[in-house]
Amino acid sequence: MSVQAPVRRITAPDIAAMKGVEPIVSLTAYHAHTAAIADAHCHFLLVGDSLGMVMHGFETTLPVPLELMIMHGRAVTRGAQRALVVVDMPFGSYEESPPVAFRNAAQVIKQTQCGAIKLEGGRRMAETIRYLTERGVPVMAHIGLTPQSINVMGGFKVQGREKSQWKALEDDARAVAEAGAFSVVLEAMPEELAARITKKIPIPTVGIGAGRHCDGQILVMEDMLGLSPRVPKFVKAFGEVGSAIDGAIRGYAQAVKAGAFPAPEHTYAMKGPEKAGKSRKTV
Ligand code: KIV
Repeated sequence: MSVQAPVRRITAPDIAAMKGVEPIVSLTAYHAHTAAIADAHCHFLLVGDSLGMVMHGFETTLPVPLELMIMHGRAVTRGAQRALVVVDMPFGSYEESPPVAFRNAAQVIKQTQCGAIKLEGGRRMAETIRYLTERGVPVMAHIGLTPQSINVMGGFKVQGREKSQWKALEDDARAVAEAGAFSVVLEAMPEELAARITKKIPIPTVGIGAGRHCDGQILVMEDMLGLSPRVPKFVKAFGEVGSAIDGAIRGYAQAVKAGAFPAPEHTYAMKGPEKAGKSRKTV
């Protein structure tokens, strides 16, 4: 009898150790089947709160509740065997105080069995990041365009376009690294700024709309598959899944209307002697 060895899952320290060694590949994932496909190619999968917009049709990420993150987090940890699964803390679940953040992060980890959480914010979240990491919660930080602050930022706006804004963003990156974050997402900022931050801090930067010089890259899976109706400038469609789905559904509808589906091979036969001479159509 042979017992198959379980696949070793990538951990937050493994991701931290990748800085300067190899590029980190990651995508968002919200459900089990796509997580299983992406698992073979990605170092980590992010159950991003962008699922509120991508999967549930909200205009922003702000309405997403903790329960929804947990539900999708469970699907992704069931689907992916090898990649680190990181679950986003949604708006309102961590900003109030470090103990509130810990209580909610612990619930996410217990119920999804993810390996880390992500939260938005730089210097203002440093105390919380330290509190969480000291209590066993690996934290990925997220600075630059932080979509949960859209009402303060006045929209989904590129950050750090003026050189005068660079110091604040560099201070944010340094603060989250010093507080113990194992990596940091840099979203929507000029390539030069992301490159400077990447050089200056000891933890890996994961870019989304932050150019070529980050330690890794992340995209929203539906965007890079060509499934999202509107995408930001930084997205490249690596597939045309939207038109493939449209073509498949059109073919199905035509076949149903023409009586060509289901064909005999898609039907069940009856058991036993009654079988002979009984066609489906007469049942
Ligand atoms: O929620 C999300 O998908 C994210 C990525 C944009 C990094 O935070």
